[in-house]
Amino acid sequence: MRVLDRGDQLRKELDAARAAGRTVGLVPTMGALHQGHASLIRRSARECDLTAVTVFVNPLQFGPSEDLDSYPADLASDISVATAAGAALLFAPPVDDMYPGGRPGVTVHVAGVDMLEGASRPGHFDGVATVVAKLFNLAGPCRAYFGEKDWQQLGVVRRLAVDLSFPVEVVGCPTVREPDGLACSSRNGKLSPTEREAATVLYRALTAAAGEPDPRRRMAEVVAGEPLATLDYAEVVEDRLLIAARIGGVRLIDNMRVGV
Ligand code: PAF
Repeated sequence: MRVLDRGDQLRKELDAARAAGRTVGLVPTMGALHQGHASLIRRSARECDLTAVTVFVNPLQFGPSEDLDSYPADLASDISVATAAGAALLFAPPVDDMYPGGRPGVTVHVAGVDMLEGASRPGHFDGVATVVAKLFNLAGPCRAYFGEKDWQQLGVVRRLAVDLSFPVEVVGCPTVREPDGLACSSRNGKLSPTEREAATVLYRALTAAAGEPDPRRRMAEVVAGEPLATLDYAEVVEDRLLIAARIGGVRLIDNMRVGV
């Protein structure tokens, strides 16, 4: 696998692959790759001739009091996870390659996301949409793989591709869970051993609430029973239960489709 750190290199490599008749799969990530990312990469490698993984901790999508500075980073491990899962390229640019001149003057604004993550993290989806638009522009025509754990983000990215006419097919992939139900997340690595145990409360809340007459209340009750957890939100949107909670200082999200 080759590691690139400049956007123009990525564009050149992927243009050359398409010119040679190969299809391209893109897996955008913020690194600290885990089994959830590995499943996206494996799927891309199955469905596309060449898979490029991007690793970029995007400052634009973090609020001032969020965990940008402590976001986990381990490029050596990312390279081995991406290689094992079948990626051919890993693009890990420095901030000044993605945002030369600092904070960009032109950004993408996402309307209608003032609930769930959008309510708790003002400006977050503008940051996500801006960086994903840049990655789509650099990558060119491709299939792009995103996890359903970030369910609202997946909706935003689908909308972005349609509204800005990117030649990208967005593919949503199922959440990968640890054996005890905890959804794989780069932030899980920030949990202490006792917090790690408590973190299963998100999955416990989702499964307890499925099929209940008042699922929001049931999720809140389950989280209230876990001393290390503080509920941020527990919501029902269409056929999906969504939850966000803090476990100690680590904010985690999860969601589950329920039959309705
Ligand atoms: O889901 C993520 O890791 C990020 O939000 C993404 C899509 C790579 C944009 O920075």
